[in-house]
Amino acid sequence: MNTAIILAAGKGSRMKAQLNKQYLILKEKPILAHTISVFEESPLIDEIILVISEFEHDLCKNKILDKYKFKKVKKIVSGGKERQHSVLKGINAVNEKTDIVLIHDGARPLLTKNVIKKCVDSAKEYGAASVGVPIKETIKIMGKDKFVKYTPKRENVWVTQTPQAFSIEVIKRAHEVAIEQEILGTDDAMLVEHMGGDVKMVEGDYENIKITTPDDLITAEAILAHKKHI
Ligand code: CTP
Ligand code: MG
Repeated sequence: MNTAIILAAGKGSRMKAQLNKQYLILKEKPILAHTISVFEESPLIDEIILVISEFEHDLCKNKILDKYKFKKVKKIVSGGKERQHSVLKGINAVNEKTDIVLIHDGARPLLTKNVIKKCVDSAKEYGAASVGVPIKETIKIMGKDKFVKYTPKRENVWVTQTPQAFSIEVIKRAHEVAIEQEILGTDDAMLVEHMGGDVKMVEGDYENIKITTPDDLITAEAILAHKKHI
């Protein structure tokens, strides 16, 4: 069984909006509703666990759950202080029949079912997989003094996105080790890497952006408008 954990318990502070960014409207629908819809429509996803802010249960009910009536959303749990804490709360809520867990940012509404499939397939084969895209620009690694230390070969540098998918044993163990060793990662693949595990990179789409700042909303609207015409 494949379970998706969708994270929406952040504060959205960089968006500087009145409302948590997940509930802002993108093409007549809240961002989070777009995101959940993709997992709801994927035949590979059996259950969805939604992780939201403890203060936004009513908001989520009113803006999303009552209106869209997603059948696969089986549990709604409150998130934690950092993203990693929210993920762990989601992992602790997965059904005991779960083999593969997908972890996805609620703020990435433009993923596709095809990317979900590639990610699940790789997690089944390798135990851990992350979606990402090759970097388009040249990266510089800086010293603290803001002088360039070195330039990594561009073909080896990818931008990470979500979903990331794992066998349940791998991701549970990675979070246990992170707690024991007080590691706080910005994604879940990092925790698997930290315990020496291999993470397979799966090529996704450049369009699978994370809505972080106001200009990302403009980009997302444009991508959706373009998709409608193809
Ligand atoms: N997230 C979460 N719990 C947290 C922090 C983040 O569930 N404690 C989620 C966010 O809701 C988002 C995803 O993780 O869908 C990626 O995080 P980010 O884009 O940084 O969102 P926010 O933390 O909400 O935004 P900001 O950092 O600007 O406050
Ligand atoms: Mg954040």
